[in-house]
Amino acid sequence: MRIRIITLFPEMFDGPFGTSIVSRAVRDGLVEITTHQLRDYTTDRHRTVDDEPYGGGAGMVMKPAPLADAVDDLKINARDAGEPEPRVILLSPQGRRFDQATAMELAARDSLILVCGRYEGVDERFIDASVDEEISIGDYVLSGGEPAAIVLVDALTRLIPGVLGSEESAPSDSFASGLGGRLQGPVYTRPAEWDGRHVPEILLSGDHARLERWRQEQSEARTRERRPDLMEPQTPKSRTRDHQAGDGDTGQ
Ligand code: ADE
Repeated sequence: MRIRIITLFPEMFDGPFGTSIVSRAVRDGLVEITTHQLRDYTTDRHRTVDDEPYGGGAGMVMKPAPLADAVDDLKINARDAGEPEPRVILLSPQGRRFDQATAMELAARDSLILVCGRYEGVDERFIDASVDEEISIGDYVLSGGEPAAIVLVDALTRLIPGVLGSEESAPSDSFASGLGGRLQGPVYTRPAEWDGRHVPEILLSGDHARLERWRQEQSEARTRERRPDLMEPQTPKSRTRDHQAGDGDTGQ
């Protein structure tokens, strides 16, 4: 899988992508991640990427031309490398909410371009012309799309076959299909007694059938208590709606 990230702050990715599972996946050639400085696609002496909003208002708006030129250039780059057309994703608080189903959907793709917005927003004409989908990582406003891109890349990298050491880990994660989209229950390690607290007896019993039932029950009870919304039947269609120009998605 190939991920290209357009950003004003490439250095923000060095730490998160230089350590742990993502860096191992990069080293093993399972994912290739590159960052691309948006200012390299400006044409003026000051390398301007933003301007005041038409109609007034607070903050600055990112200009459409450098963003569109960056996306076009990276698409050519992908074509030259023999990749399928990359999906262009803008990280934005107005996007579809990111979840495990979306992570799985994106992990199955060969090529992505992630665009990190900054300031008060991005000129809508760039979104209409060049963006396939807007994704938000939650109902809060970050200073920019970079931390959201890091979250997205981490969540989908660990779903790429061969990235995780144990074949078991990904399916038993919270939200994963092995638990029916529910939360993971409690886990324990040695010692069996710590500070007067005991590991549940069933974990020491060696009865695998009972243990599996217990895990499912724990997962269900925890989900019911903490996230009853996840107990609702999932509706895959409504979770995969693509961005469409003029679909009225303007609220934060
Ligand atoms: N940019 C600013 N806030 C964001 C969010 N919640 N998700 C994705 N990108 C963002």
